[in-house]
This record gives sequence, structure tokens and C-alpha cells, in this order.
Amino acid sequence: MPKPTPHDEMARMITGYWISQMVYVAARLGLADRLAEGPRTAEELARTTGTHARSLYRLLRALASVGVFSEDGEGRFRQTPLGECLRSDVPGSQRAMALMMGQEHLHCWNDLLESIRTGQTAFDRLYGKPIFEYLGDHPEQAKVFDAAMTAIHGRETQWTLDAYDFSGVQVLADIGGGNASNLIAILKHYPEMRGILFDLPHVVDRPRASIEAAGVADRCEAVRGSFFDAIPVEADAYFLRNIIHDWDDQKSGLILRNIGRSTPPGARLLVVQHLLPLGDAPSYGKLMDLTMFLLPGGLERTEAEFRRLYDRVASPGNVTKDSPPWGAAQCHHLSMNGFSRRGGYPNDHPDDPPRPMPLPSPHQRRPVPLAMPVHPGTYEPKI
Ligand SMILES: C[S@@+](CC[C@H](N)C(=O)[O-])C[C@H]1O[C@@H](n2cnc3c(N)ncnc32)[C@H](O)[C@@H]1O
Repeated sequence: MPKPTPHDEMARMITGYWISQMVYVAARLGLADRLAEGPRTAEELARTTGTHARSLYRLLRALASVGVFSEDGEGRFRQTPLGECLRSDVPGSQRAMALMMGQEHLHCWNDLLESIRTGQTAFDRLYGKPIFEYLGDHPEQAKVFDAAMTAIHGRETQWTLDAYDFSGVQVLADIGGGNASNLIAILKHYPEMRGILFDLPHVVDRPRASIEAAGVADRCEAVRGSFFDAIPVEADAYFLRNIIHDWDDQKSGLILRNIGRSTPPGARLLVVQHLLPLGDAPSYGKLMDLTMFLLPGGLERTEAEFRRLYDRVASPGNVTKDSPPWGAAQCHHLSMNGFSRRGGYPNDHPDDPPRPMPLPSPHQRRPVPLAMPVHPGTYEPKI
């Protein structure tokens, strides 16, 4: 196949939202779940989804042209490996991600120009309140958000377990642990460990059923609160996955200082987050950075930016009698860069066969453990 020209590549980028919106509508209509029961014609699917048959056929045909579903010679559509990912009941389901990206996220991305002009967070401007407050007022969207966190970050859990040795941690506090899927997996892996799920009041009750179903309820405690007020949990490791990127340095510093206030001597701080590569290196994190800008108002950071943040939090000026130094605490930063997808968008030139979005090669998939190691004794943040 001839290499795409810059013109082709640009056209592919410009039309990227065509495909993401097609996928969103497929997810909304539950087409993948319906096709899991067997091949169906557009007419049959239109009856069960309450849609217009000819228009639905055109959507299915376009989806099949990029590998999501496939049409046979008799006008019946069937599942494909790509389409399977949109089922709601498969491990690693991407359906909630498609729903979330096609609603509030798209709305905010639509306002990117205004945010670039003003430096303002699109979500607050469009919805009149910050996203986590909005989710508290919208339980349906909050459920989608919970499931989308597993869709986006679920694979990071196993990679974290592969890359980091939690031995010796008796009590792990997952700060902003959300749907608890990460804490559940760690507790299952370490049967002696106890866990604390700390999150906003409207969040911590939602995963109760999953915690019970996983058989870890007797070792898991939920604590409600806002990490901007206080984090009244005593643990020997504080775990923050995809938390710091939601906030600017001032708010991130407040979270880290509030953790410091309850940290017993010797506790560890474990931050799991992308490190942005320098220069033009392709990076999923650089795209995620814009999402962080538009929705919660946060940012992805380079290693130097993380070091500056940790240093500022640990600087003597920040240590007061209410925020005792961490003593022997160690700050470990686990980079998620192994998840970065190289380049591109899954929208091809219309005449090209479908091309899967390139994934990192197997040796790149492991997270880089302690890519930003803060060795005990060389870096002891005092918060
Ligand atoms: C991007 S999600 C990450 C969830 C989870 N750590 C993960 O990696 O899947 C951010 C989490 O921070 C929580 N959060 C937001 N504001 C908070 C606050 N003020 N106090 C405590 N948790 C908060 C949200 O409810 C959400 O669960």
C-alpha cells in the first residue's frame, strides 16, 4: 500500500470526528450488544433501537468500512473484534468511554478555540460548575464516568501490579480511588493488605457492590471527603492514580500537603501518571493534556514539571506545625508512558482498508517502573 501523503494524513486528521461520532451513536444504541446475539439486518436493528432503518443502514455500512462490524452479502451485519470492544459486558469494554467522549467531552472539545483564546476551562464555562461537582448532581453521567475510568485506565492496574512491589504495605489508601477497581485488584493481589478508598461523598458508595462481589469488603474501608479540605486517613502508602493531572500546581500542591498532614513516618507516596516526553515525540499524554485543560482544568506534566511540583510541596516554606515533615517517606512516581499510542487517529482515507490505530510494540507496553525514581534517602519530601 502506498504511504499516505501529508495531504492524506491531514484529511484523515480533519475528519477524525466523523468516526468518533459514528462510534458514539453505535454505543448509544447498544448496537454491539445487539449484534452479540447474532447477525442482524439494519431493519431488524432499527426495530429494536427505535431508529430509521435506511439511516441506520448507512451508519452500519460506514462503521463496517472502518472495521467496526461487517456486512455479509445478504445485508446482515455481524460482530468484528473492533465491534466487540463496544459491548457493555466484555472485559475492557470501551462503550462507556465512547459515551463519555461523545457527550460532555465532545461538547468541551467543540469549545477548544475559546479555551485557547481565554485560557479558561471549557467545562466550567459550558456547564456552570466544575466537572466533579456536576457528576455529583448527575448520577447517570457519574455511572458512565465510573465505567469510563475502567475503560481508559483499567489496563493500568495490571501494569502497575507488574511494575511495582507493594510488599510491606499493610494499609494502602487509594486517594480519589473512584470506582475502586484499582484498589480491589491490589487487595486481591495482596491478601494481607487492607485498603482505604478515599473519594468525594457522592462517589464512595457507588462501588460498594463491586467491593463486596470481589470478596474484599472485610479489608476495605471507604472514607468520604474532599482532598482539598483534609484527608483523615492513616495508611503506610498513599496511592494517587490519575489524580494530579486533574489539577493545576496550586491545587495539586494542596492535595499533597493534605496527604502529608496525616502521613505517619515512613509512609510512601505513590503517584501514577504520564510523564510527557520532550520535543515532538508522539504521546497519548500530549492529547490527554488538552482533555485535562478542557474538562477538570488540569494538565499533564513533564518530568521536570513534576519535580518542580514535588520540590515546591516539600520546600521548607510549606512545612508548618500543622503539616509535619514526612520524615522517611518516599515519593515514587510510576510513569504510565508505556500506554502511549504512537501517532494518529483511526480515521483513514475513505478508499483505504481499515487500519487499526497503532499500538505500542509489546516491549513498550510495560509501564516504566519508577521512571522518575525518587530513591530513599536522596529525596524525602517534607510536606
Ligand atoms: C480521573 S478520576 C481517577 C480515578 C481513579 N484514581 C483511576 O485512576 O481510575 C479522578 C477521581 O478524583 C476524585 N475526586 C475529584 N475531586 C475530588 C476531591 N475534591 N476529593 C476527593 N476525590 C476527588 C473523583 O471523584 C475521581 O474518582
